[in-house]
Amino acid sequence: TSASEEAEPGTHGALTRAGGVRGEAEGAPDSEQLAEIGLRFEVDGEIATITLDRPERRNAQTFATWSALAQIGTTLPEQVRVVVVRGEGPSFSAGIDVRLFTPEGVSGQGSFASAAALDGGTIDQRIREFQEGFLWLRRPDIVSIAAVHGHAIGAGFQLALACDLRVIADDTKFCMKEPALGLVPDLTGTKPLVDLVGLSRAVEICLSARVVEAGEALRLGLAERVVPGDELQAATKELATSLLATDRDAAAATKRLLQGASGRTLEEQAAAERAEQRARIKALFGGVRQA
Ligand code: ACO
Repeated sequence: TSASEEAEPGTHGALTRAGGVRGEAEGAPDSEQLAEIGLRFEVDGEIATITLDRPERRNAQTFATWSALAQIGTTLPEQVRVVVVRGEGPSFSAGIDVRLFTPEGVSGQGSFASAAALDGGTIDQRIREFQEGFLWLRRPDIVSIAAVHGHAIGAGFQLALACDLRVIADDTKFCMKEPALGLVPDLTGTKPLVDLVGLSRAVEICLSARVVEAGEALRLGLAERVVPGDELQAATKELATSLLATDRDAAAATKRLLQGASGRTLEEQAAAERAEQRARIKALFGGVRQA
């Protein structure tokens, strides 16, 4: 197999290409393709649910998982406002499929060894594509919720960190295992981790690769809420529903403002508030006849 062929994650080349225009079902991965990769995608009104569905491998993730997540993001139906990410079986996700560390890799997807044969620019491009599977979960027009239980290791921890909010079961075990395996966390998890727990704690958690259990996760700000395992689904639904109470466009504008706040001075943030509010006032009251 040539390097370029091996660079194609998954057996479905289509999964690496950009999907259809947002709001169109065109280009969306079909449920059979997703099932093969170990994913499910369901939409119920304004709430979409992505389920990691390979419980027999503890929802281990492959290169194809990340390409498919990216494609779900590109083709997300227009009406969706909340995206829930959850895992089937005993664990949220045991992280990257460890078969990718073997010379044989995962059928049709290559391995780290075959990736190492690629030039630096190509490796960079591939990681960028995988990161797209995580980055869209921060889009201002949606709120993403990770519903976590059991192990959330490596890529599993990062997938939870990629979401805006985390509701976790009391058996949750987070672990950033990458450094223990000689790698760095590169699926966009390092920034939200530092933002949530601070630099010192993030260094300690990552470089020890230790387990952070649910109670500590809550204390550190890694979770909004801890619930008994059998209440996770209901608690997630409740949170998702509560986020639909606000006006759609105001919610998106407010999320944009909040996301930009830490990178701006107070004056800059005040200016950003004015700009967003100008747009809201025009949109809401622009056509209203003056008294
Ligand atoms: N990749 C591939 N297969 C996996 C993975 C994985 N990451 N994790 C579990 N499995 C498989 C096991 O090999 C096992 O398969 P088998 O039934 O054919 O033997 C099956 O899933 C069940 O796993 P168990 O270990 O029996 O389940 P248990 O509930 O006892 O333990 C745990 C779960 C703690 C998650 C354990 O499986 C584990 O440590 N997995 C590896 C975690 C890991 O190192 N991930 C990589 C992180 S780094 C990164 O993500 C970049």
